[in-house]
Amino acid sequence: MARICVLGGTGFVGQVLVNRLVTQGHQVRVLTRERFRHRSLLVFPTLDLVQTNVHKERSLVRHIEGMDVIINLVGILNESRVRQKTFKETHIRLAQKLMSACHTHDIPRLLQMSALGADRNARSNYLRSKAEAEAALFQFSGVTKVTSFRPSLIFGPGDHLIGRFTALLRLAPYFFPLGCPNTRFAPVYVGDVVTRMCDSLNDRQTYSQSISLCGPDVYTLQELIELIAATASLKRRVVPLSPFMSRMQARILGRVPGKPLTMDNYYSLQVDSVCPDADPCPTHLEPVLREMLEKN
Ligand SMILES: NC(=O)c1ccc[n+]([C@@H]2O[C@H](COP(=O)([O-])OP(=O)(O)OC[C@H]3O[C@@H](n4cnc5c(N)ncnc54)[C@H](OP(=O)(O)O)[C@@H]3O)[C@@H](O)[C@H]2O)c1
Repeated sequence: MARICVLGGTGFVGQVLVNRLVTQGHQVRVLTRERFRHRSLLVFPTLDLVQTNVHKERSLVRHIEGMDVIINLVGILNESRVRQKTFKETHIRLAQKLMSACHTHDIPRLLQMSALGADRNARSNYLRSKAEAEAALFQFSGVTKVTSFRPSLIFGPGDHLIGRFTALLRLAPYFFPLGCPNTRFAPVYVGDVVTRMCDSLNDRQTYSQSISLCGPDVYTLQELIELIAATASLKRRVVPLSPFMSRMQARILGRVPGKPLTMDNYYSLQVDSVCPDADPCPTHLEPVLREMLEKN
């Protein structure tokens, strides 16, 4: 049994991970910005849900003291003007502060959630900041053994992929104009992601590694959206947009409330999210999709 502190443990991946860790008998502390909003996690008797500002170094140092493992799942897809919601602060600076806090207490292990396609030369600020966060952790790891995970799109109940596209498809009258239709993905099941993370906790072979996580099937974005529409019994014609129109769409949607698609998302979508050299995770998308959409 280990004492594990999870940042971002209240999110889609975090809730599944925390559930698994508690079931395995670990003592888990989750740091959150808003404890009240996530009080459903309090059903776990051994879970300690702590409200704090993870961007304050003093809070980090205080709350990770005595931990065996730190898991950082904090991530954003879109920036806002608030300082603590920029890619730089949320991904890079947080990783740096976390590593420095780990040094203060000689924390032996840290798992980081990155993203497939993370690249310091990427055009997308999201992918670039994910790569820089990862690099900062590896570069200054010291006694802390770091493993980083790079998943493709993650699916499962409560995800951001199927939920968001199903909602958008329902809103579309008949045609669904789709930007970047040919970008390829290998969606990976959240349960498989969590299994790989838990298996790595004591696995020395994963130390200092960046591990790509993909599912067994590859889809273009258009195939994925058509599959979601068909499974949800929505008669929508997905209309693939040209590169120019895809860019225009991102420019426009980045300015509407809720920002369904931004220019930075558009740049991320210029890179395929597949991992031909990695062992695929086992769970197929389609049965899970059917189960999720049939419930609605
Ligand atoms: N979902 C995917 O398809 C996917 C694919 C590739 C990589 N990833 C990466 O996997 C990680 C987990 O993804 P997810 O889908 O579970 O994300 P999520 O549901 O959005 O959860 C992220 C969590 O991070 C915390 N957080 C968000 N913004 C923050 C900020 N500015 N400062 C401090 N904390 C903040 C939130 O916790 P509180 O509100 O409790 O503070 C939230 O519960 C992320 O790093 C993401 O980039 C996800």
